[in-house]
Amino acid sequence: MTASRYALIGHPVAHSLSPRIHAAFARQAGIDMRYDAIDAEDFDAALAAFDGAGANVTLPHKQRAAAACSTLGDRARRAGVVNTLVRGDGGWHGDNTDGLGLVRDLTGRQRLDLRKRRTLLLGAGGGARGVAPALLDAGIGDLFVVNRTPERADALADALGEPMRVHPRYLDDLKGLGEFDLIVNATSATRNGSFPGLPMSLAGPRTAAVDLSYGEAAVGFLAWARAAGARDMVDGLGMLVEQAAESFALWHGVRPDTDAIHAELRAREDALVSAD
Ligand code: ATR
Repeated sequence: MTASRYALIGHPVAHSLSPRIHAAFARQAGIDMRYDAIDAEDFDAALAAFDGAGANVTLPHKQRAAAACSTLGDRARRAGVVNTLVRGDGGWHGDNTDGLGLVRDLTGRQRLDLRKRRTLLLGAGGGARGVAPALLDAGIGDLFVVNRTPERADALADALGEPMRVHPRYLDDLKGLGEFDLIVNATSATRNGSFPGLPMSLAGPRTAAVDLSYGEAAVGFLAWARAAGARDMVDGLGMLVEQAAESFALWHGVRPDTDAIHAELRAREDALVSAD
């Protein structure tokens, strides 16, 4: 085992900002570590070959990572997906920092009060599963889970175990659901260029619209939210930085300050998006 070695395992990972974020945290904390992006189609083979002390896991392997762990933290167990691995004596310990990362960005940096917000979660894949428990813990009101494949919306709602607060619905129902105070886009629809039409009636002057993606991938949903009259439009860059800080804290016992790297990446993203 190489104690100073960490990595992100996913497919694809070439454009990931995580190595840059963790390098900045390591410099800040005075910790000598290496953090690589490992592009792997076969997650199990990549993990078996990896000799480091910890790893992040991203698309499309978060569910597979949960299965590879010998122990799971509470957040990962409720989500059924793992984004952070910590090597222990008896194998990998899995945790999920995505949800806390999102809530920290929304309540801290964006200064949004999430309590009692009537919430729509679009998607029921790894991203949606990672953030739903933390949103519930943050005190949102009713949570409507809408997904293209109805069985996955049902499965996520069941897994969350709060039938009075969590309601699975289907794409065809969207028109009749009324207005939401918080809409979280956790689908990969914009990433793969096939964003479904959303009724304007979902958003209004109280709505915060949040995309878990950032950069080009978030443009379509956030443009829809603006056109629909939403008040706040938030992309996933802040969540990316905050979830990384939580992972860093699990590995090193120090929670880094996130403001400087967030500002640097925000300036870079703004320049890239406006250049297109
Ligand atoms: P992730 O880890 O990003 O959540 P995922 O587990 O593959 O990735 O989930 C992708 C999510 O985007 C799913 O909710 C998926 O819907 P299905 O469960 O029906 O596949 C959703 N999604 C992807 N493309 C979509 C599209 N064109 N329209 C609507 N939903 C889409």
